[in-house]
Amino acid sequence: MYKIAILASGSGSNARKIIEHFANSSVGQVSLVITNRKSAGVLDHAADFSIPTKYFFKDVWSQNPEEILETLREYQIDFIVLAGFLLKLPELLVDHYPNRVVNIHPALLPKYGGKGMYGHHVHEAVKAAGESESGMTIHFVNHHYDEGGIIFQAKVSISPEDSAEAIQKKVLALEHTHYPAVIEETLAKLGE
Ligand code: GAR
Repeated sequence: MYKIAILASGSGSNARKIIEHFANSSVGQVSLVITNRKSAGVLDHAADFSIPTKYFFKDVWSQNPEEILETLREYQIDFIVLAGFLLKLPELLVDHYPNRVVNIHPALLPKYGGKGMYGHHVHEAVKAAGESESGMTIHFVNHHYDEGGIIFQAKVSISPEDSAEAIQKKVLALEHTHYPAVIEETLAKLGE
């Protein structure tokens, strides 16, 4: 059974779907939730399922990632899932979990990715460009924002009437549908 840590900065709706999914899985279990924001909604979701949580202040991520690695070791974490985690993951952690860190991005990478492209910024850019479709990308995490190998993408049509908020809703629904299952498939392949 692989032990998963979810890292999230925000409301944590994806994290909740993942926690629910792995509550009934024989492949993995969510053993820890880590955030960089004390008020992040994800902490409430973790509490609902009695999953331990840790908070690390911004400076720890940039200046003392050993402390975070130590915590991951303490909880015997095998696999890291970023779900709306908005800081850059320290290289130390990426290097200790080769091909064992995944992220979800609310657009069809390589379009609309990179530093500063997160949450509503992405959907506003998609809207401004007049795209007829958007979607989401699940990918491995490497040392560069949104550049790791793509694992899975799903698309959704958007119409000229759709606001950035409407696009966000459509994309989030896709994320909720696919992210838990894609994580499970990725975990299953680790053992092959
Ligand atoms: C999701 O749409 C996710 O793709 C995005 O943040 C949202 C988090 O929502 N991530 C990024 O933009 C990363 N660059 P949630 O907290 O409700 O799961």
